[in-house]
Amino acid sequence: MIQSLKDTVKLNNGLPMPGFGLGVWKVKDGEEVIHSVRSALAAGYPMIDTAAIYRNETGVGEALRQSGVKRDDVFITTKVWNADQGYESTLAAFDTSMKKLGIETVDLYLIHWPTAGKYKETWKAMEKLYKDGRARAIGVCNFHEHHLEDLLQDAEIKPAVDQIELHPLLSQVPLRNYCYKEGITVEAYSPLGSGGLINHPTLKAIGEKYGKTAAQVMLRWDVQNEIITIPRSTQEAHIISNADIFNFELSPEDIDKIDALNEDKRFGADPDNFNF
Ligand SMILES: NC(=O)c1ccc[n+]([C@@H]2O[C@H](COP(=O)([O-])OP(=O)(O)OC[C@H]3O[C@@H](n4cnc5c(N)ncnc54)[C@H](OP(=O)(O)O)[C@@H]3O)[C@@H](O)[C@H]2O)c1
Repeated sequence: MIQSLKDTVKLNNGLPMPGFGLGVWKVKDGEEVIHSVRSALAAGYPMIDTAAIYRNETGVGEALRQSGVKRDDVFITTKVWNADQGYESTLAAFDTSMKKLGIETVDLYLIHWPTAGKYKETWKAMEKLYKDGRARAIGVCNFHEHHLEDLLQDAEIKPAVDQIELHPLLSQVPLRNYCYKEGITVEAYSPLGSGGLINHPTLKAIGEKYGKTAAQVMLRWDVQNEIITIPRSTQEAHIISNADIFNFELSPEDIDKIDALNEDKRFGADPDNFNF
């Protein structure tokens, strides 16, 4: 159960993964990402989610060193970008990411998108990185059920995580149920609808009852559903308030109201139809 900032979810290989972390998509390398990551670590965030394509792994690594937080006390996720998919190119991309981050081993390495004709070869490289102990867990992002079914046909190691767009307007119940059945942990990206749901009237009204913001309601809905969540912010006040969700509980009626907001609306690309 994710009942505090430090609580973890056990992945299918036994690795504990924090239920809550900071996302850094669109956060500029250098001062901006260093400030965001340092603010999050100071606020007790146990996890940072970056990716090669975010081009800020160097700053994330710098922030980790500056923070003085022990390597083992922070869970780091990064991802192989589409252009680097394939066996050898994934191994090379991994080395580049580790160099930029200034670490030897990553906690979770993910395939960023299900690039057609490539992701199975990529997965073989991910399996090698896992077996070599360079990645403590491996997984995917943006995989629909049919992508996972396809991957599982040849995979030696099951993905530990599927990181997918998930928020009240895209609740992903069928994919969540499939992942649960397969022992794949679901992680919500764009949990605030990439910022688009911050002023949603229903979420704001629910929040008012508890003295909480719409953002806190969305993040609380994630953790009450045992969904790992990684909100992004570059503002220290938001970073702190987003983590302040472990001192209230949404009632079953409010959970139902949030569940009813689903309209299968994406703020990002559809994994069945992307051109990057
Ligand atoms: N695997 C993938 O393909 C994929 C795709 C997208 C995202 N992700 C991951 O998921 C993370 C989160 O998703 P996201 O970056 O799309 O967006 P998000 O976390 O849903 O929303 C971020 C936006 O909300 C604003 N915000 C955050 N907290 C707020 C608060 N308390 N009050 C008001 N505004 C607030 C932020 O602005 P301020 O900075 O001003 O607070 C920012 O504009 C990413 O950073 C990335 O790590 C992964």
